[in-house]
Amino acid sequence: MEKMKVGLIGCGMISEIYLKNCTQRFGNMEIKACADINRQAAEKRAGQFGIQAMTVEELLADPEIELVLNLTVPDQHGPVGMRILNAGKHVYSEKPFATSYEEASALLNLAKSKNLYAGSAPDTFMGDGMQMVRSLLDSGAIGRAFAAQAFLLSRGPEYFHPNPEFLYKEGAGPLMDWGPYYITALIALFGPVKSVYGSSRKPYGEKEIKAPGSPRKGQKFPVEVPTYITSILEFTSGMMANLTVSFDLQCAYWESHMPYIQIYGTEGTISVPDVNSFAGPVLLRKGGGEFEEVEVKGNFTENCRGMGLCEMIHGIRTGQPWRTEGSMGAHVTEVMLAIMESAKEKRAITLKTTCELPKPLSPDRKPEMYTD
Ligand SMILES: NC(=O)c1ccc[n+]([C@@H]2O[C@H](COP(=O)([O-])OP(=O)(O)OC[C@H]3O[C@@H](n4cnc5c(N)ncnc54)[C@H](O)[C@@H]3O)[C@@H](O)[C@H]2O)c1
Repeated sequence: MEKMKVGLIGCGMISEIYLKNCTQRFGNMEIKACADINRQAAEKRAGQFGIQAMTVEELLADPEIELVLNLTVPDQHGPVGMRILNAGKHVYSEKPFATSYEEASALLNLAKSKNLYAGSAPDTFMGDGMQMVRSLLDSGAIGRAFAAQAFLLSRGPEYFHPNPEFLYKEGAGPLMDWGPYYITALIALFGPVKSVYGSSRKPYGEKEIKAPGSPRKGQKFPVEVPTYITSILEFTSGMMANLTVSFDLQCAYWESHMPYIQIYGTEGTISVPDVNSFAGPVLLRKGGGEFEEVEVKGNFTENCRGMGLCEMIHGIRTGQPWRTEGSMGAHVTEVMLAIMESAKEKRAITLKTTCELPKPLSPDRKPEMYTD
């Protein structure tokens, strides 16, 4: 089948790995052009990957482009997504899918009314590490799983992102920015969430850019959202999970002594790898024994961002169900917003949206995933 022509809007930091994987690896797409409100950013990426730089308007008007990858900043995912759908093109958005429940519903409704598809990152749950966890759970390796603890504890993105302010504004913060990895991972293992309870704090009024090499290093900026959030998630399946996320600890993301996620079952415990990665290690403890590493093999252990887009294109081309559907992105968005609302109102919140438990993936997938 002919490769789907794809356009990319938002040529910032994360666009590089997407362009690398989508131009060189995945077999069912051709990235035709990229655009950005900052023309120089678009030209830089276009030059780097041998594609065309366009304005956003030119890209949306290009009749060859069937699908647009939306890699803009979080508060633009909704508005830019609506423009993409209104231009008659499918949209795959970086996380979060939207920053409000209304925006997420509007995107799904517009896509449906126009017979288009809307998809959402993250796709890390499709990596070999998380798929090994899923296979252990499905095979009963820890008996009946009943609860999980999840932690994202870090000193914040000001240590690595040259322009981190957007991550401290309304619609961002640790839950809206990194929460999607955790909540998507939990949903990809346990199914949809039924209700949540949250509590939050904002320990710092302002932060400082600390990223080495940032021309703006040392500049201060205001913190507009809570940056320490803890929550209880009740799943429709009967599972429960505690999730704590923070940008305020004096440790880097990978240095915290807390696990990323641990899953407890009647016969053992699984320690889940970093949900912002595609690889292991996956650790399994049975009965009273020690944790033992379970080998994670496959072609999807390095940074495979874009595999969710490849999966979506396969879904569009074949009409088969696909795993990065916007309905999951919208559900994840509602879970995060409900946690924040619950923290303000001091009451549990029952969710309005739901989604399917994504089917597990085979460990034998080819590196290019799909060629149709
Ligand atoms: N940086 C990371 O490590 C990382 C990892 C995974 C996901 N993400 C997600 O990817 C998205 C982008 O992050 P980033 O780090 O690349 O941000 P960034 O600020 O580096 O890049 C965003 C780009 O989008 C452009 N843009 C903003 N609004 C636009 C609009 N309306 N129209 C066209 N262009 C617009 C900006 O000019 C900028 O070049 C965010 O949603 C983020 O959560 C980032």
